[in-house]
Amino acid sequence: MHRLEIDLVSKTYRGGIRAVHEIALDLRPGIVGLLGPNGAGKSTLMRIVATVAKPTSGTVRWDGDDVVRAPQALRRVLGYLPQDAGVYPHLDAYEFLDYIAALKEIDARSARRQIGELLNALDLVPVAKRPLGTLSGGNRQRVAIAQALLGDPQLLVVDEPTVGLDPEQRVRFRDLLARFAQDRIVLLSTHVVSDIETTADRIVVIAAGRVIADGTPGAVIGAHLSLEAAYLAQVGAAA
Ligand SMILES: Nc1ncnc2c1ncn2[C@@H]1O[C@H](COP(=O)(O)OP(=O)(O)O)[C@@H](O)[C@H]1O
Ligand SMILES: [Mg+2]
Repeated sequence: MHRLEIDLVSKTYRGGIRAVHEIALDLRPGIVGLLGPNGAGKSTLMRIVATVAKPTSGTVRWDGDDVVRAPQALRRVLGYLPQDAGVYPHLDAYEFLDYIAALKEIDARSARRQIGELLNALDLVPVAKRPLGTLSGGNRQRVAIAQALLGDPQLLVVDEPTVGLDPEQRVRFRDLLARFAQDRIVLLSTHVVSDIETTADRIVVIAAGRVIADGTPGAVIGAHLSLEAAYLAQVGAAA
């Protein structure tokens, strides 16, 4: 059983913004929802876990091995959807996924099978032959989700994956993830409680770079809602 340990990770950006402060999390297979308002530090933490940013201090271990020092072992089993994921506008969904599959060194037969399954599961078959630049934001987002799932990653890091999806697509995506997460670790960030309240095994709420709640959905959602209310009151007062 895989294990991801985030061990007292902090990140201070140039200019002194402390985006993440001493976050410690020990993750096992299942869906972990990372919930927090804009600016909480979710994307920063996910970039560090995905080995595309380095912590200022602290470390991350995958199955006991330090991935800050030696990222390759994790990269081989990682699927990552960055918050600002782009797709290539002149390729269609099939070509794009075939390209990513080659980069991930998935053999051609397996790639064909996986791409077919993902296009189907993400309801992309009707648009799979159209240039990605001509698709709606929601369709492009689902293609970006598919690229993260290619290669059957053992650790899936998805940063605000449901942005741009309509309610029906959100439900389909939730079901897909629930099936996928049976024996894999999924770390999903969102500021939308309903994305994770029914499917996450665990919810970690972060605010201002710190974990402020961590537990089952039932136990932590109250804390987040009061946080959101406080945030909205602040925004309202400022407007
Ligand atoms: N590349 C960067 N350089 C400087 N500050 C950054 C950078 N990325 C994020 N920040 C700041 O770090 C804090 C956390 O941002 P982020 O990790 O994007 O939070 P979230 O994903 O929860 O919205 C914010 O104050 C943000 O402005
Ligand atoms: Mg973010």
